[in-house]
Amino acid sequence: MSSSVKVVVTGAAGQIAYSLIPRLVDGKTFGNKKVNLTLVEIPQVVEKLKGLVMELEDSYFPNMGEVKYTDNFEEASKDADWFLLVGSIPRGIVYNGKKIEERSDLLSINGGIFVDQGKAIGEHGKANAKILVVGNPANTNAFIGKNAANNDSQLWMAMTMLDSNRAKSVISKKTNTDISDVTNMIIWGNHSPTMYPDSENVCINGVLGSEAINDMTWVESEFIPSVQQRGKAVIDARGASSATSAAKAAIDTVIACENPTPSGICFSAAIASDGSYDVPEGIICGYPLMTLEDGTVDIKRDIALSDFAKSKFQISIDELLEEKEAVKHLMK
Ligand SMILES: NC(=O)c1ccc[n+]([C@@H]2O[C@H](COP(=O)([O-])OP(=O)(O)OC[C@H]3O[C@@H](n4cnc5c(N)ncnc54)[C@H](O)[C@@H]3O)[C@@H](O)[C@H]2O)c1
Repeated sequence: MSSSVKVVVTGAAGQIAYSLIPRLVDGKTFGNKKVNLTLVEIPQVVEKLKGLVMELEDSYFPNMGEVKYTDNFEEASKDADWFLLVGSIPRGIVYNGKKIEERSDLLSINGGIFVDQGKAIGEHGKANAKILVVGNPANTNAFIGKNAANNDSQLWMAMTMLDSNRAKSVISKKTNTDISDVTNMIIWGNHSPTMYPDSENVCINGVLGSEAINDMTWVESEFIPSVQQRGKAVIDARGASSATSAAKAAIDTVIACENPTPSGICFSAAIASDGSYDVPEGIICGYPLMTLEDGTVDIKRDIALSDFAKSKFQISIDELLEEKEAVKHLMK
């Protein structure tokens, strides 16, 4: 075995984590590396993780290293290479005697969690640690965490890969194309119903969507709303939010960051804006990304946006700015 990687997963007793964690140690996500896991839960739930650890041991994963579980995030974060921040308080539950229904309440409660986790990551995580926020509201949680971490050598991301994968599936059906021939499915903006899935720059068998699809009525009235609302449709159908597809998307994001991106290709995640594509600096915004040979992840800056795309993207940027305003009390 060549080397090892330490991965911290929060929300480890939740439904996404149950699909996610075995895939981290299956020898595909991190190749030949030994994977040491630290699983984190809230104190009320943490003992359940004993059962998950037993199952992992019983599964015979040759690449699995040490597996620990804890409710102490600060301790967990020491020298970690990857943080998969899945844990968050979902909408609809009663928290401190109040039912959490408003997005502003959700932002505030989860924001508090991400201040503490961000501080710990900035102080104790590896200098080149990568952090993928899955727990919603993912972009603004990542924004809060990054600010609290105050460590610019670390990379904070919010997950939009699930939206990208969903959009690829819709495009492959519409164009009768094998899904493996659909690439560069960019999700611009926020991981929320304002996201803009880009049907013009998607690549279908080497042809841009703007040429291959050629049906803007379908794009506006079916494609965009179906991708934006797919999370809700899954909840309505199964009575719980997407889990196995969310776990697969988190794994896809890790793999995309661990391996150089082939020339001309990009993948989707949200990272801090540096002003690219006229997005105000600092907000965690869905972009086309690429991983360079040295392992750094950068924005792909040569994508052309039509006036239609710009107007849709702006709606999501405006929402991110509103969320930023709603959590300003959590910023230093
Ligand atoms: N970005 C995406 O594409 C995407 C997709 C699907 C779901 N999600 C989000 O992912 C999150 C997790 O979803 P799930 O279905 O696994 O939920 P779940 O309720 O099954 O599990 C969440 C777990 O997080 C734990 N948790 C809460 N606060 C924590 C903290 N401070 N530290 C550690 N653990 C904590 C809870 O105890 C719970 O076990 C939700 O916020 C959901 O909205 C995001």
